[in-house]
Amino acid sequence: MRVLGIESSCDETGIAIIDSDSNILGEALYSQVELHAKYGGVVPELASRDHIRKALPLIRQVLEEANLSATDIDGVAYTAGPGLIGALLVGAVLGRSLAWGWEVPAIGVHHMEGHLLAAMLEDNPPQLPFLGLLVSGGHTLLVDVKAVGKYKVIGESLDDAVGEAFDKTAKMLGLSYPGGPALAQLAVAGDPGRFKFPRPMTNRPGLDFSFSGLKTFALNTWAGSNKTEKDKADIARAFEEAVVDTMLIKCRRALQQTGLKQLVIAGGVGANQRLRSRLKKLDAEVFVPQPKYCTDNGVMIAYAGLLRLEAGEKHDSSIIVRPRWSLEDLSPVST
Ligand code: KG4
Ligand code: ZN
Repeated sequence: MRVLGIESSCDETGIAIIDSDSNILGEALYSQVELHAKYGGVVPELASRDHIRKALPLIRQVLEEANLSATDIDGVAYTAGPGLIGALLVGAVLGRSLAWGWEVPAIGVHHMEGHLLAAMLEDNPPQLPFLGLLVSGGHTLLVDVKAVGKYKVIGESLDDAVGEAFDKTAKMLGLSYPGGPALAQLAVAGDPGRFKFPRPMTNRPGLDFSFSGLKTFALNTWAGSNKTEKDKADIARAFEEAVVDTMLIKCRRALQQTGLKQLVIAGGVGANQRLRSRLKKLDAEVFVPQPKYCTDNGVMIAYAGLLRLEAGEKHDSSIIVRPRWSLEDLSPVST
């Protein structure tokens, strides 16, 4: 079976084709970063319009590069949520329409399930069950992954998502959008010992996170400094150290609590090098997708859709998207 995947939940148009042996036959990614940069964040209406412009030409391009034609596609998977409603609708309408025209099944995929399963495409994949740390611009979740489709959220952020905290702190330091990677780059030159930021919610029991206080701490530290380039780098480093340490403490606790022996890091912040290397020190086998499959992409959507379509899952042809959607509402995939 060959599945075409369409990702359009936020500011990236991702297209991919995958087969039953998990071979990635073609892929393309278009990032809208430049379009939104001057506004300092994603403008939802502009995002939707750009997905409309880019999705179909990218599908044509991926088919061509893979030397395939429409008749070679046996199913279509598109991101049905969570995400920006207009952006999701573009992928859903296109995915459903193509599947209708091609007379193949289509399936709406949960974006976070895509992120969680992306590590299974790497050369050394995790075995189920595993602990998932999902860290993106919209979510910070610790997930007990019991089986494909069977998820228990055991920890989450009570306020800002970790990627959001990176982006807001970066914006405050005058870095350009998207701030996460820019802040991480700046932190490399920073002094880790100069400022000591709190490790929020680590000295009380539980697996939940809170990042909005860290952002405020960074703001106050910046306001009280001389605002030199060195101050900026030192604050970036102290912020990153605090986030990474907090993640380490909560992941260690979650592993102990669940007895799980494998940790899978997923989502855009999983591309952060300090987080990747620090979490590898945990007493668990740690799996992280290559950076391009940590951030949004079409491959993870094609793969999650493939698993469900192969298991015979069928959806009717209604076009339904869910801007908010809990991972726990998904149905287990029969294997
Ligand atoms: O998963 P993703 O691509 O999109 C969402 O589903 O949200 O994650 C995007 C988030 C953004 O907040 C971005 O700043 C952050 O991931 N990010 C990073 C890094 N690369 C991406 N944060 C810290 N360090 C990075 N290297
Ligand atoms: Zn994402």
